[in-house]
Amino acid sequence: MNPVSAAYQTIFGTPEIAPPSNRPPALRILSCGAVDDGKSTLIGRLLFEAGAVPDDQRAALAADSRRYGAADGDIDYALLTDGLEAERERNITIDVAYRYMSTASRDFIIADTPGHEQFTANMATGASQCEVAIILADAARGLRQQSFRHAAICSILGIRHVVLAVNKMDKVGFSQERFREIAEAFAPVAGHLNLDVVAIPLSARHGDNVAVASRSMGWYEGRTLLEHLERLEIAQAGDTAGLRLPIQGVCRTAAGERFYLGTIAAGTLSPGERVRVAVSGAEATVERLVGVEGPLGRAGRGEAVAVSFAPEIDLGRGDLLHGDADAPGCSNHFSAHVIWFGERPLFAGRDYELRLGTFASPVTVTAIRGKLDIVSGLRVAAAEIERDDIAICHLATPGLIAFDAYARCAPTGSFLLIDRVSGATVAAGMVRNALDRGSNLFAQRLTVDRQAREALLGQKGAVLWFTGLSGAGKSTIADALERRLHARRKLTILLDGDNIRLGLNRDLGFTEGDRVENLRRVAEVARLMVDAGLIVLCSFISPFAADRAMLRERLAGSPFFELFVDAPLDICERRDPKGLYAKARRGEIRNFTGVDSAYERPAAPDVVLDSSRCEPDELADRVMSLLVERGIAI
Ligand code: ADX
Repeated sequence: MNPVSAAYQTIFGTPEIAPPSNRPPALRILSCGAVDDGKSTLIGRLLFEAGAVPDDQRAALAADSRRYGAADGDIDYALLTDGLEAERERNITIDVAYRYMSTASRDFIIADTPGHEQFTANMATGASQCEVAIILADAARGLRQQSFRHAAICSILGIRHVVLAVNKMDKVGFSQERFREIAEAFAPVAGHLNLDVVAIPLSARHGDNVAVASRSMGWYEGRTLLEHLERLEIAQAGDTAGLRLPIQGVCRTAAGERFYLGTIAAGTLSPGERVRVAVSGAEATVERLVGVEGPLGRAGRGEAVAVSFAPEIDLGRGDLLHGDADAPGCSNHFSAHVIWFGERPLFAGRDYELRLGTFASPVTVTAIRGKLDIVSGLRVAAAEIERDDIAICHLATPGLIAFDAYARCAPTGSFLLIDRVSGATVAAGMVRNALDRGSNLFAQRLTVDRQAREALLGQKGAVLWFTGLSGAGKSTIADALERRLHARRKLTILLDGDNIRLGLNRDLGFTEGDRVENLRRVAEVARLMVDAGLIVLCSFISPFAADRAMLRERLAGSPFFELFVDAPLDICERRDPKGLYAKARRGEIRNFTGVDSAYERPAAPDVVLDSSRCEPDELADRVMSLLVERGIAI
């Protein structure tokens, strides 16, 4: 094995090499629905009828079915797929299970996603490669919210073909009327979402219209499910982008030759070809191209490759190579569909980590432009986004990034959002388009900078951020500290929650979304002030860890101290300097921190100030000593 292939295998693991075949690529099917809709039974029945279940397993299945109480001679097809649910019950997480089957004319891969809580997340992962979705409905129960949600997600993920499998027709007396009612209720969504929907009435349990035409539904003239899947012609997917090669890593051969590793996301690549690096625009010529099995004359979409350049260039993980003619979008602001699966709602103003292919960056949700009403398929206004909602958002990154519209190139147009405090994946996103406002703004370099202003003032700027419950003593300590700094001839400013909310942030209330925006604005003001060379004292409840993480990051350019004014809730409530706790307890104010809105204690503050044990002056002295020690208040 050549050294690059060897390195490759260490990075990517041993790839499965598919046996050569003249058959067209397998049709990828996504199954959507809950277990109660009969999903396991349907998939089991499909596998069984398509001959994907070996003889010995068939015999075992018949025996198991009897054991689990199926009527005499009946087979419980769900037993073929229920292993997945069983494993979940044992807490083994399987996000997507792939099942394979073949008939005389076609191969199939069924992506089966468990239908529980994490459904949307799983579905979004499973769906990204699929060409057709089976959305299951229970004929007796009719369509559910989930059916519409699945349709919407399919549409966003670029799945055009949908089979609405109306199952359990036996339970409604094989009623044509009922079938028509369900199919018609689904039709408008299909229109809005641009889906090509075929509805099939069936009974997975009894086999009607799965692989064999139903004798009980003479009125149905369409194809059986299996026939439909065998003959379905897939409209060509929209992947029209030229070369896209996201760089995953770098390795050196024993001879010192540098290779970049990645999987081609779109287009083709050959030795001798000129490529460009997105964002920087740097050019390079491919010298050698190596695949898993050795040197290649050409590589295409989906192939894992190692590439060397002559002359060598400097690339890193997250860089994106593209062809000369067809560049990806390049901006720091873009619009996207976001399928939200965070447990807490999404608010405009919050920061997350963006993972787009191999690239990672902080990202801010700058605006929520609405969400999809899943039943009508139309966009409706929304200020906050709850779990399972599909939002249309604007997102901004600190620097320029390269991407494509999802419809153009899925691998470079889809991303995940990660909660930076918990590390959990909270959303899957699909880029719609770049927003000009980002690309047309350029940071001006100014001659008089912070250092110059600091030199003039003879001090160093810093941000001192006081967080804690209302009544904990933040403002009192901040005030005492400011007096001390002022006495030492330091230029300071104190930004206090109540004062700022009487002016700049007069339009904001106390919902979580409004608090996010409150702190975002204050962070920007603090940044301007510290840039002016000031020592900025900020006194805000700032109850949420995610927002405090945002502050630290946005104010990272100067010394930043998080000061946690820690006093137990009952003491703050006893003090109740503004009578607000009493009002909150009487239900006269809502979302009051500590009463009916959370305060998340800082995990690692720079300083803890216990105001239940010490006087404000004593605590101010302690902070003062720290500032002297750090060279800020000399
Ligand atoms: S923060 O949560 O967004 O950081 P901020 O510090 O600006 O809050 O404002 C808190 C001040 O607003 C409190 O000191 C209190 O006087 C007042 N206030 C009025 N309503 C509320 C409320 N529902 N929750 C917390 N503080 C409130």
